[in-house]
Amino acid sequence: QEKQLLAGKKILVTAGPTRERIDPVRYLSNFSSGKMGYAIVQEAIKMGADVTLVTGPTDLQVPSGAKVVRVESAQDMLEAVLSRYPDMDVVIKTAAVADYRPKTVHSEKMKKRAGELVLELERTTDILKTLGEKKEQQLLIGFAAETVDVAYYAQQKLETKNLDMIVANDVKAEGAGFGTDTNIVTMYKQSGDVIPLPLLSKAEVAHRILEEVQLLLEGTL
Ligand code: PMT
Repeated sequence: QEKQLLAGKKILVTAGPTRERIDPVRYLSNFSSGKMGYAIVQEAIKMGADVTLVTGPTDLQVPSGAKVVRVESAQDMLEAVLSRYPDMDVVIKTAAVADYRPKTVHSEKMKKRAGELVLELERTTDILKTLGEKKEQQLLIGFAAETVDVAYYAQQKLETKNLDMIVANDVKAEGAGFGTDTNIVTMYKQSGDVIPLPLLSKAEVAHRILEEVQLLLEGTL
């Protein structure tokens, strides 16, 4: 029996990709499987937390014991997270949220025509940044999916999004990032601590992240 280190703590985890509709049959998305976020949910439940999972579309089975909110788009995820935010002790944003969506969503299937097609895109709202601006008692943990200059971009996101910690993964590294059962991450804390982890299963990565969360929670008491 695992120690209930997070007993009574309310934790919201986002996971999976978002889908941004182009028309009734097409969308823009990314390769997130949801595995990293669901692993965090699973481990947090084992550690006694009261867990809410806000998930984009995935093929994964929902860990039993979690409250689940299913969403499709970045806008849906924003609304689902914001409405629950005031009540949370911790938010962990593992989801791979689309940064852009089609400016026009066609109500009928687009017909193909001769020549090229240009899709005009507009920015989605940065959910994590919004949470950072509204932050009160909550611990805010972000992820950073990078392919170059991982440390630099991760630290920049830690600062600009007002986070307590960011978990960075080099998504081009073998065994890390999207779709795999393993990950290689480095945790950057607001305090300046940098904690690199070796190649581990996503379950083990989740456990290590939550141990840091527990330490941060202790620090805020
Ligand atoms: O799902 P898996 O297949 O297991 O893959 C795991 C993962 C690679 C998706 C995961 O480990 C990961 O890196 N998740 C973050 C993906 C991402 O969108 O990173 P980013 O660097 O683009 O965004 C930085 C942070 O801002 C993230 O916490 C993201 O949730 C958040 N964000 C981004 C855009 C946006 N509009 N709103 C946000 O909240």
